[in-house]
Amino acid sequence: MNQKSDYIAVFDSGVGGISVLRQLVNQMPNERFLYYGDSANAPYGTKTIAQVQELSIAVAEKLITQGIKALVVACNTATAAAVDLLRERYPQLIVVGIEPAVKLAADQFPGGTVGVMATPLTTDSEKLHALEARWQEKCNIIPLPTPGLVELVEAGKAISEESEALLRPMLAPYAGKLDAVVLGCTHYPFAAATIQSLVGADTVLLDGGEGTARETQRRLALADLCNDGEGEILIQSSAEDPEMIKRCWELLKN
Ligand code: DGL
Repeated sequence: MNQKSDYIAVFDSGVGGISVLRQLVNQMPNERFLYYGDSANAPYGTKTIAQVQELSIAVAEKLITQGIKALVVACNTATAAAVDLLRERYPQLIVVGIEPAVKLAADQFPGGTVGVMATPLTTDSEKLHALEARWQEKCNIIPLPTPGLVELVEAGKAISEESEALLRPMLAPYAGKLDAVVLGCTHYPFAAATIQSLVGADTVLLDGGEGTARETQRRLALADLCNDGEGEILIQSSAEDPEMIKRCWELLKN
């Protein structure tokens, strides 16, 4: 039986899901959060669906032993590959995923042009194709796969000469031409300043973090599982390097 004081587990392939944890903590400061970054296995975005499913189940098993009432898949890639499987396997848990904020962009910019940045696995996923097919009529969607950016964010180089050099050839051709850019990977909000400078100040950057936090809160309230005690944040990582946990805390404050 789940308790109100159980943890809300939040996981990602690495440090990226901290951009979602940030929103969750803002919206629900009284909750106890257990964050797990699978940095030893990042990136997920260049793996196969079967590999990401296996990794996601292994992470979920580790988290479940620590007393959790909800599992937030704070990774667009793991959501695309494994959220249905996780829901099937753990019916006792509230399982919430994140998907690229294409609907939000289409609602805000009908008739506009929207770039969607995501990892290769997400870009090729059925879930994203279905989302794009659904909203393509409302706005012009341009896929912008961004291989390499996750690795830089993991290495603490979200804002760096390297990230600028990686992103410039991908994004500079669209400068001033996009109404919005969807940050369809939870690592990307940490590179937002560089992305913004390349696409131009008039382009709005959107991500799914806030919507995911709202959905988590809604599902907890529905199940009468909102905590009324003290909030708490625990951060764990599969990486042996203690720097990764330090990086998560820095990004959380960022
Ligand atoms: N942060 C993850 C996402 O939202 C994936 C990063 C990775 O490729 O590991 O898609």
